[in-house]
Amino acid sequence: MSNLTIRAMEREDWAETAELIHASLNYWYATKGSGPKLLGDPVNTQLHCKVNEDLDPGLCLLAVTDSGRIAACCFHHPRPTHVSLGIMACHPNYFGSGAAKLLLDRIATFAREEGKPLRLVSSAMNLDSFSLYNRWGFTPYALFQDMYLEVPVNGLDAPLIEGVSVRDGRPEDAKAMAELEFELSGIQREQDFRYLLANEAGVWHVSVVEGANGLDGFLCSITDPGCSLVGPGAARTDNQAAGLLRRVLDHEPGRKRVWLVPSEHRELVDTCYSWGARNCEMHLAQVIGEAQPLSGVIFPTFMPETW
Ligand SMILES: CC(C)(COP(=O)(O)OP(=O)(O)OC[C@H]1O[C@@H](n2cnc3c(N)ncnc32)[C@H](O)[C@@H]1OP(=O)(O)O)[C@@H](O)C(=O)NCCC(=O)NCCS
Repeated sequence: MSNLTIRAMEREDWAETAELIHASLNYWYATKGSGPKLLGDPVNTQLHCKVNEDLDPGLCLLAVTDSGRIAACCFHHPRPTHVSLGIMACHPNYFGSGAAKLLLDRIATFAREEGKPLRLVSSAMNLDSFSLYNRWGFTPYALFQDMYLEVPVNGLDAPLIEGVSVRDGRPEDAKAMAELEFELSGIQREQDFRYLLANEAGVWHVSVVEGANGLDGFLCSITDPGCSLVGPGAARTDNQAAGLLRRVLDHEPGRKRVWLVPSEHRELVDTCYSWGARNCEMHLAQVIGEAQPLSGVIFPTFMPETW
């Protein structure tokens, strides 16, 4: 196997990087999991390159062979409270080559030098990635189930959630969203909410719930063929989380939507089942260092993957 070196992803690498992510996940899930994950055109996967580069230019690292081929990629995101490790993917031709460990070592060293916890959300059904992270020192601290629903073309046939009034987010909500998330999960990433609310690409949507003392919840979503995931979001109660989700699912009728629900939130999970949602994956929030126990309802996502 040839030597691997690390360099930052450039604009001209997006097509190969997106193709790698698409091939990596689909190959892994086709051979060891429940079947291919990313069913659309690989070109749609470039959305990951775009959003992550918009947020953190130059912070997608590539492990490259002597001949210039990209063997693996990994995004990372420094934030005031932590560093997030994003999508890690190795090309199937290079599985077991040490490419992922090389990237993980570089990013873990960076987080250690910054003196910040290193966080990620990874599959609980993928023993290869679990083991990679576990050997490196990550400890799981929260379990999420990925639920999905083919939203009917006429919208969800379910009653609205009583007592929860949802409005569209506005640019000035970024601070309150960041403060709520900081209170509930101990992380600070106002810059991401400012980016989503500014919505220069015209693909983001933010819904919020206002309470007596400020914001009680928010839920973001993206309209793009490259991402069916709903999030990020946070809410004080299951009822508010359900009200937000109910509204977001109606944004794109006729489409499959996927969201991660904290599994201990029985009431919210049952509400999702009552809408016809089913499970398709399990994910673990993991950390090297300290992570505040979660309160309220948190909706992590991989778009953006900065939680
Ligand atoms: C997960 C993935 C990134 C690993 O990439 P890789 O380049 O094959 O991994 P590496 O060769 O760098 O390292 C694998 C390490 O995992 C560890 N490992 C793997 N299986 C293990 C097991 N069953 N028990 C303990 N450790 C294990 C080992 O430490 C191994 O290193 P070693 O060679 O020292 O034993 C790759 O399988 C992949 O891209 N999968 C599809 C996409 C994916 O799942 N991404 C992660 C999303 S959560």
